[in-house]
Amino acid sequence: MAKPSQATWGGRFSSGPAELMLRFSESVTFDRRLAPFDIAGSKAHSAMLAHVGLITAAERNAIHKGLDAIAADILAGKFVWDVKLEDVHMNIEHALKQRVPAAAKLHTARSRNDQVALDMRLYFKSACAEVGAGLRAVQRVLVELADRHREVLIPGYTHLQRAQPVSIAHHLLAWVEMIGRDVRRFADVAEHANICPLGAGAIAGTTLPIDREFVATALGFVDAKGRPQVTPNSMDTVADRDLFLEFAAAAAIAGVHFSRIAEDLILWSSAEFRFIDLPDAFCTGSSLMPQKKNPDAAELLRGKSGRLVGNLQTLLVLVKGLPMTYNRDLQEDKPPLFDSHDTLVICADVLAATLAGAKVIPAACAAAVADPLLLATDLADYLVDRGVPFRDAHHAVGALVKCAEGLGLPLPQVPQDEAQKIHKEFAKDWPSVFDLDRAMAARRGTGMPSPAQVKKQVARWRKALAE
Ligand code: ARG
Repeated sequence: MAKPSQATWGGRFSSGPAELMLRFSESVTFDRRLAPFDIAGSKAHSAMLAHVGLITAAERNAIHKGLDAIAADILAGKFVWDVKLEDVHMNIEHALKQRVPAAAKLHTARSRNDQVALDMRLYFKSACAEVGAGLRAVQRVLVELADRHREVLIPGYTHLQRAQPVSIAHHLLAWVEMIGRDVRRFADVAEHANICPLGAGAIAGTTLPIDREFVATALGFVDAKGRPQVTPNSMDTVADRDLFLEFAAAAAIAGVHFSRIAEDLILWSSAEFRFIDLPDAFCTGSSLMPQKKNPDAAELLRGKSGRLVGNLQTLLVLVKGLPMTYNRDLQEDKPPLFDSHDTLVICADVLAATLAGAKVIPAACAAAVADPLLLATDLADYLVDRGVPFRDAHHAVGALVKCAEGLGLPLPQVPQDEAQKIHKEFAKDWPSVFDLDRAMAARRGTGMPSPAQVKKQVARWRKALAE
């Protein structure tokens, strides 16, 4: 029987889609990257169909052989993708039909709705692993850099005003912590992806006697004890896009972290700071000003975070207001998601490479951290040690700072009689507070920047990142 529409769903149609509609509705130009997952899913599905007797073992073997050949063609770049076949699923199924008669049975008890949900869950597992590896590579470079500069002190900033001294290692380890949370977030997304959606069908499962647990086990959707994990509600299964939102949210947060790191790098590499020199290979010059070396890699890291935030927004708006269950709108879920994935992976690579080539400039750091005002809080602590209530101590040191400013002297050089006028507990030894080694060693509590603590944290991260 000749059909006017050749599409897999063309039986009830008297004409095929308009050329314009095909161009509008195709997704194969972007969802073809799901091919390895689509093929893995189809192999497991056909294995299950044979297992329950819906197809024969010979049919299963033929389907597997055909799918393997298609996978090889795709890998070799020989596969011809056709937008007329809409999406990755129908392209592969069509190619299989041309090789294997049994291919016509592959879609038994399956819909593209649960098929795309399956492809995406497999994709998320793989994407989360890739992103996690990229993030850990950044952490490794940072820990190395921190370890090599445990003795280099810089001012720490709040409100971008000099606050208190820290080691540059402590600052770098703050970034390592931020990225560590990103690593955990992506691991959580991968764990949430670990439930098999296949068997939900289009919306309400199937009347055929399929074995969902068989497919789940075959594809590795198992818990720690090896028990298969399958989604418990067929409608939720095909409507749910939470993983997209979670992945995009994790990517947006990581992107914002990268952006903040980039901002510090940009500041630090300016002539006003000079704490670091960024590698030539990740900077560019000016077409007009011959002296310029611009921190473009860091600026682009900051800029690309906007895309990551925007992609999350796009996905939230896409899903909002959709009635249960699957709606074709959901096809639009992939471009922003893939963009977040690809953008974050290249951002991680660029950040790691930029940091690996960055040179700390100890002399500039030393000059900046020599500002005695950075230890004004330590002087207040000195008074507290002598029994002065902190609020009073704070006030007294504030008055001393004002006095130093008035006299045009560095804080530790305020004469003793002036200091005594401000507070009697400024004993002769108060200027001894202005000793950076003492100040740093005293910050010995967990999470503080004493050299001993920083050494401990470097060791902790080295161990965690070696696993
Ligand atoms: N390309 C489609 C998507 O990504 C696959 C699912 C199509 N399902 C359908 N009922 N038309 O959403």
